[in-house]
Amino acid sequence: MTATPEQTEAARRGAFSSRRVFILAAIGSAVGLGNIWRFPYVAYENGGGAFILPYLIALLTAGIPFLFLDYALGHRNRGSAPLSFARLRKGTEFLGWWQVGICAIIAIYYAAIIGWSMRYMFFSVDKAWGSDPEKFFGGEFLSAADPSAGVTFDFVPGILVPLLVVWVVVIAIMALGVQKGVGATSVIFIPVLLLAFVALVVQALLLPGATEGLNALFTPNWSALKDTAVWAAAFGQIFFSLSIGFGIMITYSSYVGRRTDMTGSGLVVGFANSGFELLCGIGVFSALGFMAQASGVQVGDVASGGIGLAFIAFPAIISQAPAGGLIGVLFFASLILAGLTSLVSILEVVISAVRDKFEMSRVGATAVVALPIAVVSVLLFSTTSALTVLDIMDNFINKFGILLVAVVSMLVIAWALRALPALARHLNRYGSIPVRGWWVALISVVTPAVLALILVKELRDTAAETYGGYPDWMVAVFGWGVAAAVVVVGVLVTLVRWRPDTPLTVPEDETDPTALEVAR
Ligand code: ALA
Repeated sequence: MTATPEQTEAARRGAFSSRRVFILAAIGSAVGLGNIWRFPYVAYENGGGAFILPYLIALLTAGIPFLFLDYALGHRNRGSAPLSFARLRKGTEFLGWWQVGICAIIAIYYAAIIGWSMRYMFFSVDKAWGSDPEKFFGGEFLSAADPSAGVTFDFVPGILVPLLVVWVVVIAIMALGVQKGVGATSVIFIPVLLLAFVALVVQALLLPGATEGLNALFTPNWSALKDTAVWAAAFGQIFFSLSIGFGIMITYSSYVGRRTDMTGSGLVVGFANSGFELLCGIGVFSALGFMAQASGVQVGDVASGGIGLAFIAFPAIISQAPAGGLIGVLFFASLILAGLTSLVSILEVVISAVRDKFEMSRVGATAVVALPIAVVSVLLFSTTSALTVLDIMDNFINKFGILLVAVVSMLVIAWALRALPALARHLNRYGSIPVRGWWVALISVVTPAVLALILVKELRDTAAETYGGYPDWMVAVFGWGVAAAVVVVGVLVTLVRWRPDTPLTVPEDETDPTALEVAR
């Protein structure tokens, strides 16, 4: 029996075995560090309960529609981000490589945070941070140098070893391939993550003072809605958290069967991610409420975001709470599980692009991609300057990477290629949510306009003063420099020829006449 074109393609590129695995992998990618440590604080800082409104508007007007766009691109064009763009129109391939570059940068620092969480999971058992978690984190744990010291190559064994472990685990997963590696990781990790996190939330809700924390999070400050920064925070959160705009969802949707309901799947992924995010808000703020009550201060005085929340505020809570050790293990295990399933998706963007473009086996591409990324990650993030570099990279690549490439892609696809009607028809062939004029209007006008306004404001604010008060050259190199480098590298890779057996036309599919619709 001869194989169908779809089977041949699956054998060559890899594929998820079913829609269920695809949805779990997409949820695994979406639910990540962004949900656990970013969302609760972003929501609290930006109007608390009132933030839910811009957040939901961002989800419905930008998040889900953009997720549909990513799905349409990858599912119709059957390729990694650069191949999917090349198959729309050759000249747009660089947009895909730009996204690949963003993923390579995010992977470098994302792994570091997972490594730190591994150490902290063990620290939780005997509360190794002692009476001053802040001093312990910057001092004994990271041995953080003053930012003015620049990039040091003073390695800290305590962060080097877990980072190496993360990379060994992730490289092994990637080498196993799309279904046995990426897919299976989510199928196993996501249910475990859900159980661990629900147990954590229940524990946190039972703490004295939990309601105080929830009141702080959910009491709406309606005047916040007049502040453009609040809207910027909502849209920024949605893009990072849903894993949209940086190639992940394009790549994943190229691995799912052609007759799949992509829009229905998108709604499941979007609402699962936001549901989990809300759960994170409830868990984290219950714990912060306890901490505030125990220390006799306001919740606002103990709330912090990102690194401060995970590695300073939570350890303090773990030290004081009844069954604190259990809370700690559950919290850091959740960070590790959520982080790993997102990190594999970020790396898959790069590996699949390299495999599509160059003639390379799965293991070969994994080695060529993941090893150099791992080396840079270890060089930059197991030293005393890790914290400074991480903060700068994370801030710049999110704003001037993800949000910028999202705006440019939408404008190019909608206005230069006029491809939205064909993409909508593709989604509608098997989709359960009809995609019509409203989607075209959102992707071509509303979302790019909102994002462009946000970006202009961010650009003005960031240019006005050196980010974070760090040394100028560090912001120039790891902030502006990295954000610009991914564009330049993206354009350069476009000049390299495609592997001979990768046609730049959409693979023939008798079930999909839209394949030939966008004029080339
Ligand atoms: N979507 C992933 C996160 O939220 C990248 O961390």
